[in-house]
This record gives sequence, structure tokens and C-alpha cells, in this order.
Amino acid sequence: MSEGNVCVGTQGQPWITTSGSADAFLLNMLSWGRPVETSLVGAFDKSGRGSRRDIPLPFHRDGDYSKDVSAKHNIDVVGLHCLKPGKAVTLIKYRDKVHSIRLQKGQGIIFDNKAVTHAREGDVGDRVLLRVWMEIIKD
Ligand SMILES: [Fe+2]
Repeated sequence: MSEGNVCVGTQGQPWITTSGSADAFLLNMLSWGRPVETSLVGAFDKSGRGSRRDIPLPFHRDGDYSKDVSAKHNIDVVGLHCLKPGKAVTLIKYRDKVHSIRLQKGQGIIFDNKAVTHAREGDVGDRVLLRVWMEIIKD
């Protein structure tokens, strides 16, 4: 998938914010294609995957650090849904413009993983997000 194939926002930007139940979020995500991985993002571990630790994350695309997954599947669309809010801020960078979003409970972001990069700043603390990776089915 090249940039711009998943322009989901009303302004043509390749991301949207959502609000509602985790159910509604999951059904929205499923509509994008094939699920690749679903996980919880929070401060659970002292070492290992950054999505499970209380550390800032520099701008990246999901799959950059998960080669075991990205070798087998395209992570085309990423969805983050906030189960428990916290101080951490999610940053989305698109064409050198950075948007910062502090997710509240029930809020989410869905973005084109190829068109934008994303980062995290601030303490994760008690914040827990539900994260879904989707692959767009081409045929
Ligand atoms: Fe990420």
C-alpha cells in the first residue's frame, strides 16, 4: 500500500479519531480487512517490547520493531482505543506536521501506518490502550 490509499479523515488526512465503546471500535477495525494482531499497550514490563513498557517511543511505524509479524503481514491500518486514560500523549506526524492527542477513555485513533509515523511522549503510568493491527485485503 502506498501513501494515501487509506485516507480516512474528513479533511483527507490519513487518520481519524473515534469515540465510543471498545465493541464499536473493534467492529470499525474489522471493517478494514484482516486482523494481524490485537494487544494491550501499557506499562506492564521492565524490558522487551516498547508497547509494554513505560518509556517514550520515538517516531516509528508499527512493525519496524516487530519483524516477526511484519515479515508475514502488512500492518496497513493501526487502531488505538483508550481503555484507561493517562498523561501520555500520542503524536502523529504527517507531511512534517505533528498532531498531538491525549486519549481519553473511550477515545481512539485509527491511522494509515504507511502514510504517517507516530510516537509517544510522557508517563504511561496506568494508561491502557487496546491496539489492533489490520492488513488490507487486496483481491
Ligand atoms: Fe507504535
